[in-house]
Amino acid sequence: MSTKVDPFVQHFRASAPYIHAHRGRTFVIMFGGEAVASKDLRTLLYDVALLHSLGVRIVLVAGARPQIDEALARRSEESRFEGDLRVTDEVALQCVKEAVGATRVELESLLSMGLPNSPMSGARLRVATGNFVMAQPVGVLDGVDYQYTGKPRRVDSEGIRQRLDDGAIVVLTPIGYSSTGEAFNISSHDVASAAAIALGADKLIGLLEGQGVFDAEGLNPSQLTPHEAERYLHSGRDLGHDVERHLAAAIEACQGGVPRAHLVARQSDGALLRELFTRDGVGTMVTSEAFEGVRPAVRSDIGGILTLIAPLEEQGVLVRRPHEMLENDIDKFTVIERDGMLVACAALYAYPGESIAELACLVVHPDYRTSGRGGQLLQYLERQCGARGLRRLFVLTTQTSHWFREHGFDNCELDELPKSRRSHYDQGRRSKILLKPLG
Ligand SMILES: CC(C)(COP(=O)(O)OP(=O)(O)OC[C@H]1O[C@@H](n2cnc3c(N)ncnc32)[C@H](O)[C@@H]1OP(=O)(O)O)[C@@H](O)C(=O)NCCC(=O)NCCS
Repeated sequence: MSTKVDPFVQHFRASAPYIHAHRGRTFVIMFGGEAVASKDLRTLLYDVALLHSLGVRIVLVAGARPQIDEALARRSEESRFEGDLRVTDEVALQCVKEAVGATRVELESLLSMGLPNSPMSGARLRVATGNFVMAQPVGVLDGVDYQYTGKPRRVDSEGIRQRLDDGAIVVLTPIGYSSTGEAFNISSHDVASAAAIALGADKLIGLLEGQGVFDAEGLNPSQLTPHEAERYLHSGRDLGHDVERHLAAAIEACQGGVPRAHLVARQSDGALLRELFTRDGVGTMVTSEAFEGVRPAVRSDIGGILTLIAPLEEQGVLVRRPHEMLENDIDKFTVIERDGMLVACAALYAYPGESIAELACLVVHPDYRTSGRGGQLLQYLERQCGARGLRRLFVLTTQTSHWFREHGFDNCELDELPKSRRSHYDQGRRSKILLKPLG
């Protein structure tokens, strides 16, 4: 049998951990009225249907800003904004109802598709909409009466949960209702973050109209803490209204307990799937969780460590370590975990009587090399040595001596090693011995 794996099979298999991880989770997905008006809406909804069929509980929040503006223009009325907030008078409210109603019907129609030979074939989706969001008027701010512009007062999370339990996709619109029997126009971003918080959603996903979030150097950060996202918002740079609104909603959701908020460029085909089913995604994730971190290894890491070191043992870069040895030595290992996967490991064997330690088994996963992780792990272990009063660190290596020399190690002789280690030096392997005095 050929060992070459078909790329389709390879990708499908690689997405398996994400399929398992996302099943039964609640995702709130928000997009603007531009997405509803776009010809790509079908493809987006195909992907939403696919997520649903994989067991994801989905709440869609669809904006309708351009549709509302168009409805006003048809009446020869101007859209009136104060900052980013619409002032909704009686006429504007009428336009909001009209635009939101049409948006809702469009989504319900497309989610009902089921033609044979289409990606929706056999999907039989049920869509639930309703008065899930209660609103209160924004009121008068700085002398401006916002009239029928509202903000979320309460989200009927129980009602939404029941529909999700029933297998429906819930669609929320930028309208909220009040106990006075009135309707208010609410920003869809506010609806989305309030719903995600009230539902205890696992993710808030914002589909951006532009290319994404970029820093001052033009780079797209894959991850931000809410604090860093705040710095982006208040940097004074023009991020564009769309990015700013999505970032603000992501920050609010994270601060309200939603573990992860993703910002994904909608117009890049399949971006939603690539964000959710590949390790590094394609958008920006705002999270207060440690997505990647250095930590001491535990027994359940043995499998991951074996996966990291086995190819290098095969190549003779590392000395073979039997499984039992790894089990016994697991407390000597430190790992870097990235989104549930071990991407680097190293072991530290201390000889406290001689204030020296051996660094062994330093490996960074090939996909994650040359991004400083090797150096990061080394620094972490050096700090550990410092805390334990170990003043020198040595390593035995056949192929990586230059890397260590660039990190402050120097060649040394066998007799500089602890006595008990010298007798285990493999003369056949002829590893180079490098030593680093620690500050
Ligand atoms: C050595 C290793 C741990 C470095 O990890 P890393 O995360 O890529 O390290 P950093 O990002 O801090 O450093 C990358 C730099 O080291 C260089 N480098 C990587 N392997 C090297 C080697 N064997 N010799 C010399 N330089 C090397 C890279 O070319 C890169 O240089 P650049 O920044 O000029 O492009 C990683 O390459 C690895 O896992 N190698 C295989 C296992 C191994 O040899 N382990 C040591 C045995 S004890």
